Amino acid sequence: MAEIERIVILTGAGISAESGIDTFRAAGGLWEQHRIEDVATPEGFARDPRLVLGFYDMRRAALAQVEPNPAHAALARLERDFAGELLLVTQNVNDLHERGGSARVLHMHGELKSALCTACGTRSRWEVPMIDRPPCPVCHAPMLRPDVVWFGEMPYEMGRIYRALETCDLFVSIGTSGAVYPAAGFVQEARVNGARTLELNLEPSEGSRLFHETRLGPASALVPEWVDEVLSSAGG
Ligand code: OAD
Repeated sequence: MAEIERIVILTGAGISAESGIDTFRAAGGLWEQHRIEDVATPEGFARDPRLVLGFYDMRRAALAQVEPNPAHAALARLERDFAGELLLVTQNVNDLHERGGSARVLHMHGELKSALCTACGTRSRWEVPMIDRPPCPVCHAPMLRPDVVWFGEMPYEMGRIYRALETCDLFVSIGTSGAVYPAAGFVQEARVNGARTLELNLEPSEGSRLFHETRLGPASALVPEWVDEVLSSAGG
């Protein structure tokens, strides 16, 4: 393997699947159980805030029932032992990367354990239900919403992500279907800037042909193997 100095990793729901969290687009997945326009758009929230708050309260509470898996642990080991630069970007709103040991995670689609105040704009750590409209810890207005990026909204920290994609020499996508932009476009962005691109996924994703290499299998096996490879090559 050529020397790797800068890695950008993008994770999606597939990395959490073996921990017991449903993916979105599988048969029986979250988007078969709930309509996106009802629970994942600003218009849905305006129409029926209790439905939306209840949906995210349920998903936040369910985090207590799941544990990180070997794929999360492997990425934490990479963060600790890789001598180069690493940016871990996740589309996931759960906290399994952090609980698996990763200290620096960019949650581009927000987090279940964060509240966004629609009155003052503050983002606050949040662990309890929101359905009864508790006050914002900062301005006290009862105007909190889940700090999760909905369809039609801009994901977090896109400037930082694109800067890292411009200069990385390896881009790795793990457990994501490549169905949702802008994340689905990261592979092309990295590739036109000269990076090698690798996909680790259970099955070929919508964007598989855009990657130099695709490895198929469960994340709990593929990710630790790949991390071993990186750490045993130059730069590790
Ligand atoms: P999806 O549900 O679209 O895709 C999950 C991917 O993970 C699929 O390609 C599966 O084949 C793969 N997968 C399943 N189990 C796996 C395993 N054990 N190991 C490896 N891969 C596995 O989820 P995302 O791509 O994360 O956005 O979805 C992207 C965004 O769409 C989400 O962040 C969410 C959703 O709507 C918002 O809510 C804004």
